[in-house]
Amino acid sequence: MTTHTHTLAEPRVSAALARMFDAASRDDQAEARLGSALPFDRETMTAQELADAAHEIYMPVSADGGRLLYNLVRAVRPATVVEFGTSYGISTLHLAAAVRDNGSGRVITTEMNRAKAAEARRTFATTGLDDVISLLEGDALETLAELDEPVGLLFLDGWKDLCLPVLRLLEPRLAPGTLVVADDVDLPHLGTYLDHVRDTAHGYQSVTFPVEDGLEISCRL
Ligand SMILES: C[S@@+](CC[C@H](N)C(=O)[O-])C[C@H]1O[C@@H](n2cnc3c(N)ncnc32)[C@H](O)[C@@H]1O
Repeated sequence: MTTHTHTLAEPRVSAALARMFDAASRDDQAEARLGSALPFDRETMTAQELADAAHEIYMPVSADGGRLLYNLVRAVRPATVVEFGTSYGISTLHLAAAVRDNGSGRVITTEMNRAKAAEARRTFATTGLDDVISLLEGDALETLAELDEPVGLLFLDGWKDLCLPVLRLLEPRLAPGTLVVADDVDLPHLGTYLDHVRDTAHGYQSVTFPVEDGLEISCRL
């Protein structure tokens, strides 16, 4: 029987994903616990304040969304995947597993909550995927400004009102045909981003992919 390389099914990776998805299933309780003392919204809090307040909340991609990210990275075979918003690293593990199975490439991911970044680093080491992941700690609008290479696939999952500024920052690094994926099309704060990528005059062909909260997949023209 042929054995196929599939890092998502590798025991250390699948155990980490199962543990984190299980913890994330209690996000509502964590938010309720913290929310009683906080406004929890970007109208009244800075990106950093919200990131620090939301330290216990995973907010991950769905399991199907993660598998879609894996498949996209396998198909595209990008040299560099960039992710805006690591949190505890659920989506990052899917991206990195695909990079591992492609046999080349790396993932650059970004997180401004220090505790989450530290925990994600531990998980990346435990799963043995740390050699293909670079975690940039701090505000992605600053850390990604240093990037000086083409972006082969971009995944946007930080605060929704910042997805458009991060996209605009990286647009000069997107070659025609590059895929940009954004999570949570149902969230109102993603509206200005969606208006941008859904207008072909801005240089994208965009489609909504109906997994759980909805992923917007946009191709740079
Ligand atoms: C929805 S969660 C990311 C979930 C993650 N992609 C996953 O699927 O597991 C959003 C994360 O983005 C981080 N974030 C928000 N704005 C950021 C910024 N400007 N720079 C870096 N990280 C940011 C937040 O701290 C939060 O952990």
